[in-house]
Amino acid sequence: MTQLERTNMESIIALCKRKGFIFQGSEIYGGLSGTWDYGPLGVALKNNIKQLWWKRFVTDREDMYGVDAAILMNQNVWKASGHVGGFSDPLVEDLKTQKRYRADHLLEDAGIDVKGMKLADMDKMIKEKGIKSPEGNPLGDVRQFNMMFQTNIGPIANDDSISYLRPETAQGMFVNFKNVLDSMHPKMPFGLAQIGKAFRNEIAPRDFIFRTREFEQMEIEYFVHPSKWEDAFVHFQEQVWAFTKDVGISSEKVSELEVADEDRAHYSKRTIDFEFEYPFGKKELYGLAYRTDFDLKNHSKDAEHELGPKTASDLSYFDEETKERYIPHCIEPSFGLDRTVLAVLTDAYTIDELGGEKREYLKLSPKVAPILVAVSPLLKNKPHLVEKARHIYAMLKKQFGRVVFDNNGNIGKRYRRQDEIGTPFCVVVDFETVEGLKESTGDVQAGAMDTVTIRHRDTGEQERVAIEHLVAYIEGKI
Ligand code: GAP
Repeated sequence: MTQLERTNMESIIALCKRKGFIFQGSEIYGGLSGTWDYGPLGVALKNNIKQLWWKRFVTDREDMYGVDAAILMNQNVWKASGHVGGFSDPLVEDLKTQKRYRADHLLEDAGIDVKGMKLADMDKMIKEKGIKSPEGNPLGDVRQFNMMFQTNIGPIANDDSISYLRPETAQGMFVNFKNVLDSMHPKMPFGLAQIGKAFRNEIAPRDFIFRTREFEQMEIEYFVHPSKWEDAFVHFQEQVWAFTKDVGISSEKVSELEVADEDRAHYSKRTIDFEFEYPFGKKELYGLAYRTDFDLKNHSKDAEHELGPKTASDLSYFDEETKERYIPHCIEPSFGLDRTVLAVLTDAYTIDELGGEKREYLKLSPKVAPILVAVSPLLKNKPHLVEKARHIYAMLKKQFGRVVFDNNGNIGKRYRRQDEIGTPFCVVVDFETVEGLKESTGDVQAGAMDTVTIRHRDTGEQERVAIEHLVAYIEGKI
């Protein structure tokens, strides 16, 4: 990371705290590593992103069904899915301080490409190259560390009561495949979609909300006939790009990476990572995987896992037209919500000069900005201006929701404050608006010029718009 990128990252984190986007988790107790809390503006931004995702992938389509599964699941789900034995990261310990690190991160920091490396390769490389911990101490052997948070259900803690906080939302959809089939009777191909929390006991959470221990995923499990997986894969590859545009992420900062055989997750036969140029480097934003029939097969009674038929059911599909029975194959586009928020924020973060003054602001797309419009009277001590501004505020609030009334400080300060949080439009009621208004009531007199000023965040330009056209004008911008 260059000095400028580091400064930008620090400034973005500071802005997020100062303006109520994102706070450190449990901050007043000194924090809890790998957790972050979203404040009022952060949650608004996040909800706007979720709504765009849900619209594109669920409500705008005929072949997608939403679910919202429980976070805690029967432990056999995670045995059948391969997570109990296999969901781990390479861990290495500083022999002096006992601090633990991700072996692949230490190798990468030393300029070594870890792509395709197995655990034993990393161990050998660390020893061969004499790589030390960040404190300069010798390191122990590299070993696997399972990232699932384990807990016990109910008052008795034994092997049978073990459960896990889900490390992916995906399994909530695989285990409900049959329920949706039996209740909604969808025809193939169709998909299940879910937005929800996932938890991973990351060895080294870092880079703000990029790698955390608790995060949100927006995932789709799309089921197809085994012969049709490639078409669905290409379709969702295009859809991932379309979604990045929906939320206003610059296309030139996104790129695809074909994941090599040895680096793919245990369930995948093909994976594309969509990477984004974060200030701390090009890193995974989303994943698109061909999960084959791995999950449905392993949750089916035919599966050869050791859990026995009692724990599983028949997750096959019968095609009435072709009379064929098969276990569908699955394409999985997986979107990290927090990584989307971070991509949107870092992409929007801008420093420029306006009116001879330095300005730090968020160039957010109107579709995701926490506040779409701020309405102000030019002067707060002129009751007729305030009253008219309140009328307009109520009208816009009813229409768009994401609207605030702001009459603190002078108008220049209000603009700066709104710029900083990414508000694209400021509507100002000025003397021209109220030409002909009765000072006492704020009612419009016949022949009055019924217009307001709209000030645009990115350029600082202002234009006059008739109040009766205001809603349509703003709708046109989103
Ligand atoms: N169901 C597939 C799956 O979970 P993944 O690549 O492990 O695949 C999917 O995770 C997405 O979840 C990632 O592309 C990323 O956006 C997000 N993600 C994964 N681990 C994360 C973490 N520790 N913190 C924040 N987001 C994370």
